[in-house]
Amino acid sequence: MAVILSVDDLRKLAQKRVPRAIFDYAAGGSYEERTLLRNTADLDAMTFRQRVMVDVSNISLGTTLLGQPVSMPLAIGPTGMAGLFHADGEILAARAAAACGIPYCMSTMSICSIEDVRAATQRPFWFQQYLMKDRGFNQELIERAAAAQCSALMLTLDLQVLGERRRDPRNGLTIPPRLTLRNALDVAMKPAWALKVLFGKRRTFGNLVGRIGGASGIGTLAEWTASQFDASANWRDVEWVRSRWPGKLILKGVLDAEDARLGLAAGADAIVVSNHGGRQLDGAPSSISVLQEVVEAVGGRCEVMFDGGIRSGQDIAKALALGARGALIGRSFLYALAAAGEAGVTKAVDIMRNELRVTLALTGTSTIDAVGPHILRL
Ligand code: GLV
Repeated sequence: MAVILSVDDLRKLAQKRVPRAIFDYAAGGSYEERTLLRNTADLDAMTFRQRVMVDVSNISLGTTLLGQPVSMPLAIGPTGMAGLFHADGEILAARAAAACGIPYCMSTMSICSIEDVRAATQRPFWFQQYLMKDRGFNQELIERAAAAQCSALMLTLDLQVLGERRRDPRNGLTIPPRLTLRNALDVAMKPAWALKVLFGKRRTFGNLVGRIGGASGIGTLAEWTASQFDASANWRDVEWVRSRWPGKLILKGVLDAEDARLGLAAGADAIVVSNHGGRQLDGAPSSISVLQEVVEAVGGRCEVMFDGGIRSGQDIAKALALGARGALIGRSFLYALAAAGEAGVTKAVDIMRNELRVTLALTGTSTIDAVGPHILRL
């Protein structure tokens, strides 16, 4: 087997293990994928300030996210369809995250259900939801997340309408995935995936089926989102969620200082600076380019997390340097899961942990609290 040294190695392996339509669902962005590219390009363009002859023999990556101790400032972000990248994907993700000492945030658009993951794991996980037209379903998801003892609720704010991910219709992506003349050769070359996922027991959205109208024959994500997600949602609806969820509330999808202030006023415990991995507004700025502005607007009144382009420990260090409390991974996680299941996810976290440790050392930093803009050449 190929030597796995980076998230990019896991990405290449993932490409060999899952059909193109599944891989591209993760890899792609919306429209011309300009914002998707900007996320990684802007992180890559940043440089560190190397410092030498500092005692870095005792480096500690431990910190807290929402008061919860974590082994490093990283969480697995919510991604739809993890269970189509590997059978039982969400369960494996939750287990790997627990063993690594980092939070796992499960998506509403998961293949395993909240109850499946709860039954298969010991440690509390976070749960993500959108505002749906059927507000009763939001209420039900909140109750299910509470019953599963989820330690935080993450509300996604930036998907009232879906950005067009052009790779999906081009590849004929459907949920559940189907064997067609068009994908037959591709699927035949991924026999393990076909056996465990295509012909496996969980193939569609486990949180939705039997619970919300139209969930059994979803077909394309675009059609389903248009029919179910609430385009009229506004800050009052965020307050509505706040009033019903007693635990920590994370608001994800903020790219603007004004929205950060409104999110705070609506009762956020944390805000995630995110452009949805370049999957929504094409032409939006990279997440990293607006992080500082949001951190300043928030002024320490809640935690600020970051996602968008994190592929390495160096990227995590850059986000922390600009004021993030922690980073979330989406694609890096899905590639790892597709490449090697639970072991793949653990590998991705280990790779990033080592990269972060060495980055701290070579910038003369020993603790996460000591990371700041001074480790960058701005
Ligand atoms: C879901 O949130 C997606 O980006 O596909």
